Amino acid sequence: AAALYARMADTLAKARQYQPSLASRAGALLSCGHNLTLTEKILLAHLVDPRQVAQRGKSYLQLRADRVALQDASAQTALLQFMLTKLKTSAVPTSVHCDHLIVATAQSGAAGDVQTALRSSGEVFDFLQASSAAFKLQFWAPGSGIIHQIVLENYATPGGLMIGCDSHTPNAGGLGMIAVGVGGADAVDVMSGMPWELKAPYVLGVKLKGKLQGWASPKDVILHLAGKLTVKGGTGFVLEYFGPGVDTLSCTGMATICNMGAEVGATTSIVPYTAAMRRYLIATNRQAEANAADSVAAAMLQPDENCHYDQVIEIDLSKLEPHINGPFTPDLSTPISEFAATAKANGWPTELKGALIGSCTNSSYEDMTKVRQLVQQATDRGLKLKTPLYITPGSSQIKDTCDRDGVLDPLVHAGGKILANACGPCIGQWKREDIKAGEKNSIITSFNRNFAGRNDGNTATHTFLASPELVAAMSFAGTLNFNPTADALTDANGSEFRFSSPQGVELPASGFSGAKPSDLSGMSISGDQIEINPKSSRLQRLAAFPAWDGRLMHDLAVLIKVKGKCTTDHISAAGPWLKYKGHLENISENTLIGATNAETGKINCVRNTQTGKDDTVPAVARAYKEAGVGWVVIGDENYGEGSAREHAAMQPRFLGCRAIICRSFARIHETNLKKQGLLPLTFVNPADYDKIAADDTVSIINAELGPGKPFSLTPTVKLAAVITHKDETSETIPLRHTLSESQVQWIHAGSALNFIAAEQIKQK
Ligand code: F3S
Repeated sequence: AAALYARMADTLAKARQYQPSLASRAGALLSCGHNLTLTEKILLAHLVDPRQVAQRGKSYLQLRADRVALQDASAQTALLQFMLTKLKTSAVPTSVHCDHLIVATAQSGAAGDVQTALRSSGEVFDFLQASSAAFKLQFWAPGSGIIHQIVLENYATPGGLMIGCDSHTPNAGGLGMIAVGVGGADAVDVMSGMPWELKAPYVLGVKLKGKLQGWASPKDVILHLAGKLTVKGGTGFVLEYFGPGVDTLSCTGMATICNMGAEVGATTSIVPYTAAMRRYLIATNRQAEANAADSVAAAMLQPDENCHYDQVIEIDLSKLEPHINGPFTPDLSTPISEFAATAKANGWPTELKGALIGSCTNSSYEDMTKVRQLVQQATDRGLKLKTPLYITPGSSQIKDTCDRDGVLDPLVHAGGKILANACGPCIGQWKREDIKAGEKNSIITSFNRNFAGRNDGNTATHTFLASPELVAAMSFAGTLNFNPTADALTDANGSEFRFSSPQGVELPASGFSGAKPSDLSGMSISGDQIEINPKSSRLQRLAAFPAWDGRLMHDLAVLIKVKGKCTTDHISAAGPWLKYKGHLENISENTLIGATNAETGKINCVRNTQTGKDDTVPAVARAYKEAGVGWVVIGDENYGEGSAREHAAMQPRFLGCRAIICRSFARIHETNLKKQGLLPLTFVNPADYDKIAADDTVSIINAELGPGKPFSLTPTVKLAAVITHKDETSETIPLRHTLSESQVQWIHAGSALNFIAAEQIKQK
């Protein structure tokens, strides 16, 4: 950490020197003047070039990230791509976490569920372990815990910058780190030593004052805020917490709040360095990091006085009420005092069929000790669980520490089921047998998301989000009509029983029990030696895409002319396809199956112009590939919006696409296409979209050289498309590209990864 802070201080000092002069020239500073928010400080301190213009909401910052974290589902593609770079190790510390592929069952218990996952996804885990050994990554085996909890316990650094291939990466903001969830292509960039690009964010200051009272918990801060901001309200912003209330919260409580910033679409969330962070660092055996952070706290880990926030929201913690959010969206926020009436008015099923505690969001020592205290209160009076209670510890460290300190015993004695230290029911990995498919029912969880079908695959399940202490209390009532802050239950003797408000313990008095990544030092293996079964349906070694050849751009078929919205979900669907993320050929069978055919209005149905027959989009793409026919996609506005999913670019490339031509691109997708060696082109005149029909052929040409001439791609080359219609007439329309000098090199090499690999060979 000391070396990191020295580098950051140097870059920040230079940025402070350059940025004001840039601002006076171009109005292009992150902040107005010298007083910086914490977000700006950390981002400026990580600029590759401190002289870079950094304009909020407009320019893309080129940053030097300190760390990468990958979870098992996303790590597969990231590591398969990293293999193509021929690099021997990752340029920055990187950890791999096996947490998403473990299915929770009530019957087998945690150990049994891990064993089942080892059998069903063993080849994936083996691949991740071998890759980790080869590239010197930290490998956390199945059962070790959930990515964000392990990062908080081991790797999060106040003032650091990390990226993670998972949307709840901002959890590390609770320890003062800028941590952003990204797609695999970004991870490969950072692991390859390339700059990481982030659109300069706006900063939304969340001022906390007062102190939480009674049942109100850190979770309620973000449940309340989600209600105010809605699921889109944080888009383009970093949520930066400040004010006296921040000092009253635990580090893990702030992590919960930052974790769920993802629910309002925020780039990330962050908290300035506090005494609670220092205590957490020491409890997790990081005294040296705490000392280093102390020494730079005022200069580097706090916002400057009078800094400028683009927007400020104030929350008085003293007045905050517990909330329940849902169903089906995390921003439907209801204070507990109004919840029973709201449930009745909406006809939500009030009987609770499941109460779930834990996940990466809420399984801290403080959370678990509060839950223990409530469960103890209830069982001391002879109450029994009315709803099955499941507990998903965030990591083996928290689980072992809780076991050592007897925290989980009362929960188990009450009938609670401890699931594996993994994502489990939070991500639909829940073999639920108590309800039938499609049966309307309600569950309450301390997790972070509640979209339809997320937890159990049943879109009729109403999932409500709350603090772990509220979930625990509700499990003794069995109904959503219960308000534990006001209502009474009946104890074993028929007397009135009221919970007293929960008291937790912030950190274990004798520290955490400690957990380490797997020791892979005995595995001597290089990237070339990583084994992948050629018959596997889950994993497939990636082959480098062929290099650029201008002649490949002639007589291209139009695979599909897309009408309207075409997100990365339309291009590469998720759901059941996720299990093929490591197998490009298999997952390519979902290519563009959600896009609307502009000619017919149909979905996943296009004409094969070679045979004249209609078929699915992937089937026609495959047929073209086998016949050696190149193809293009014609797109509408904002093509590729949505997530940073790199499969939406890899799959068309794999199936023989040469270019995507559309009215406009979502920027991240446009960059992803370039990285995969595909040409993203836009119409100079958007109305030219109407000139292309699905049975036309398209040749991309250098507009100045004209048809039939091979050409070299350069940042300034003017491009055009010669469209040949079915009646053999043709017309030429101008096209635009946005390739920079370095991106042109990616296209020439066939992909950004090919380019990196070629550079490696040159350096040898
Ligand atoms: Fe896993 Fe759910 Fe967190 S899927 S990473 S526990 S949000």
